[in-house]
Amino acid sequence: MKDWTRRRFFLASLASGLVAGVSRLMGTSEAKAAQGPVEAGVVSQGQRPLMVSSANGLRALDRGMAILQQGGDPLDAVLATVNVVEDDPNDTSVGYGGLPNEDGAVELDASVMHGPTRRAGAVASLREIKNPSRVARLVMERTDHVLLVGAGALRFAEAHGFERQNLLTERARTAWLAWKESMSDRDSWGPGLDSPEWRERTAQLLPAGLSDAEREEWLAWIREVVLHPPTGTINCLAVDGRGNLAGTTTTSGLAWKIAGRVGDSPLIGAGLYVDNDVGAAGSTGRGEECIKVNGAHTVVEMMRQGKTPTEACLEALHRVARNYGNDRARLRRFHLLFYALNKDGVHGGASLWGAARGGRPRQYAVHDGTAARLVDCAALLEGAEA
Ligand code: GLY
Repeated sequence: MKDWTRRRFFLASLASGLVAGVSRLMGTSEAKAAQGPVEAGVVSQGQRPLMVSSANGLRALDRGMAILQQGGDPLDAVLATVNVVEDDPNDTSVGYGGLPNEDGAVELDASVMHGPTRRAGAVASLREIKNPSRVARLVMERTDHVLLVGAGALRFAEAHGFERQNLLTERARTAWLAWKESMSDRDSWGPGLDSPEWRERTAQLLPAGLSDAEREEWLAWIREVVLHPPTGTINCLAVDGRGNLAGTTTTSGLAWKIAGRVGDSPLIGAGLYVDNDVGAAGSTGRGEECIKVNGAHTVVEMMRQGKTPTEACLEALHRVARNYGNDRARLRRFHLLFYALNKDGVHGGASLWGAARGGRPRQYAVHDGTAARLVDCAALLEGAEA
């Protein structure tokens, strides 16, 4: 029967018997961050110093803010924040532990911009180095270029003393194998059509020693990332007490991507843009859609024309929706968020959809010098992603 492809059978089998809440399904620190303190509907007055990040930066913003409060550089502040997330194996969208490409290789993208010196640096498709944002900074500071990719970026990182390491954790490798096997209607990976025990065969991919609850949690998460390949990412923006700005965006990109695929994060003007006269903006989510509207640059230009950060983010999202003729059915197939901060310390964020799958509101993190908190994003479209 046509519908009974091996892939569908795999997914149906994996789904059976699984009961898990949305945050357990996600298994990312973004989901964990979303459990933190929430302050909805804040209308921010300008305040400096101030930091903004995607929700998965919530727990790390203290580090960046401490640097700003000691009079440090805003680029040091944003990098101190995102390095925590890059080092965290439990954030499967960034750095070490990021979900790999279709070949099982973790490929990382990152960019930095420094407002006071009006410089930028970036790396793309960088393997085996867990902190691509730090390498991006070196591209900015130690070369006459802006973007290095692939093997050249790796050689450059090694020349500056970075050590190669395997970035593929057991959890990410297991999920990748499950994804490979889910494609089995087109190749020979995974048990044959005659196998009676699809779910059990997937469970056999898991490492020994997990408790029953852990096994169920792994299986639920694997099902989620196989069905809905994530585009996690962290973006972080900062303004210091004098109005100087900096930003960075770092990611492992779209899970199961074609080797060499580059998203918006390392592209100056797409996943990140900083203009020290105006403000800073960044993006997480479906990179291809951000690239097509040159998202972060658009947001900064809208702020230059007088829009608030939130209005500017919504304008960029409006252009994304326009690319699909505002067809909600097609737009529901991805998510995209913009974050913005102006020179006065007014912040904003907007999401294509108000809620993620399952109804969890889309949020971003803010640190105003007292504490980090989550704020609901404005939404271009009501409802949740599919
Ligand atoms: N926004 C991250 C990516 O699409 O790669």
